[in-house]
Amino acid sequence: MTEPVCSIEEVIAGFPIPVILVDKSMMIISTNSEATKYFNSPLVGNSLYLLFRQPDVLKCIKESLSEREVKIANIIETRNEIEKNLTLMFNPVDLNSQEERVLVISLIDESIRGSAEQMRRDFVANVSHELKTPLTSLYGFIETLKNDSWDDPQARIKFLEIMENEAFRMNRLVRDLLSLSKVEVNETTEPSREVNLSDVLDIAKNAMRPLTQKYETRILISGLNSNFAIRGDKDQLIQVFNNLLENAIKYGPAKGNVELNCELVKENYLANQDHVKIDIRDYGNGFDPIHIPRLTERFYRIDKHRSREVGGTGLGLAIVKHILNRHRGRLEISSDIGKGSVFSVILPLLPQN
Ligand SMILES: Nc1ncnc2c1ncn2[C@@H]1O[C@H](COP(=O)(O)OP(=O)(O)O)[C@@H](O)[C@H]1O
Ligand SMILES: [Mg+2]
Repeated sequence: MTEPVCSIEEVIAGFPIPVILVDKSMMIISTNSEATKYFNSPLVGNSLYLLFRQPDVLKCIKESLSEREVKIANIIETRNEIEKNLTLMFNPVDLNSQEERVLVISLIDESIRGSAEQMRRDFVANVSHELKTPLTSLYGFIETLKNDSWDDPQARIKFLEIMENEAFRMNRLVRDLLSLSKVEVNETTEPSREVNLSDVLDIAKNAMRPLTQKYETRILISGLNSNFAIRGDKDQLIQVFNNLLENAIKYGPAKGNVELNCELVKENYLANQDHVKIDIRDYGNGFDPIHIPRLTERFYRIDKHRSREVGGTGLGLAIVKHILNRHRGRLEISSDIGKGSVFSVILPLLPQN
């Protein structure tokens, strides 16, 4: 038999979850630092039964040792006054002979997965709320029109305009929700096409024409080099710049400038790959940087009223984040109250031949 490259203790030390090693008599013979952290005490030399006494656990231990099979127990326990939902895995290992059979117990805290479930529930609640608000308003106006406004042409026109706006709002929300789910589905598939950044920015700028006319904003592009090529999904990259330019125009001042500057940058952790950084700067009111870490969360809006007023859904930056993840890029945000904001997109460039 070849010599083992490392001991079982060294192996469990590398695990990112609590792992406990017990002998046949259930005496704890070794633990990793995650286990010491979780139980908040050194455990070696104590009996495992001091930690777990649940009948399910005892049954798994017995069966795992006698049948030499991996067994799993799900338990709920309260530790430091917090209820935890744990999955325990019992893995019997024969060290040299059956006489030296030990049990490797690993512990997975399912409460962490629970918070993902909570996020999903919050998302569904948010979507329902966002859809219900315009729907309630639509019902209200339909009732009013049915009852008494048919003969008043001016009121009728006004109500129909409001109804049209509410329907638009629902439509935008559904469109962004579909976009988000599509982007999430293919987030792990690497894009395969070569895309030229100038084309993307040109198309995105042109798509802003109705908005730039409405707000009398000018989009000024600088630093663009026709050699900037990216491995990407063209439509998705256009969507990134559409969303960021739309925000800069809508949250910037009317009749102002939105500046889009491109430059070549080196990322510290990837010294041999060139990246392009595209800054989108507006001279609007900006915001307290305290909001920055949460801005790409779905439905997170600094000023809900303002977002609604400009036709926002609260999903634009979440979509941007997912698309950039897919492209191995990232978003950097900085803002100064009263001065404006800069949203920077950093993307890896294809190597030049
Ligand atoms: N250029 C900007 N200036 C000021 N605030 C911004 C800017 N871009 C985004 N925000 C803030 O970030 C929030 C989230 O943006 P986004 O996801 O695009 O949603 P929305 O549909 O509300 O525009 C906005 O509601 C707004 O509060
Ligand atoms: Mg937006």
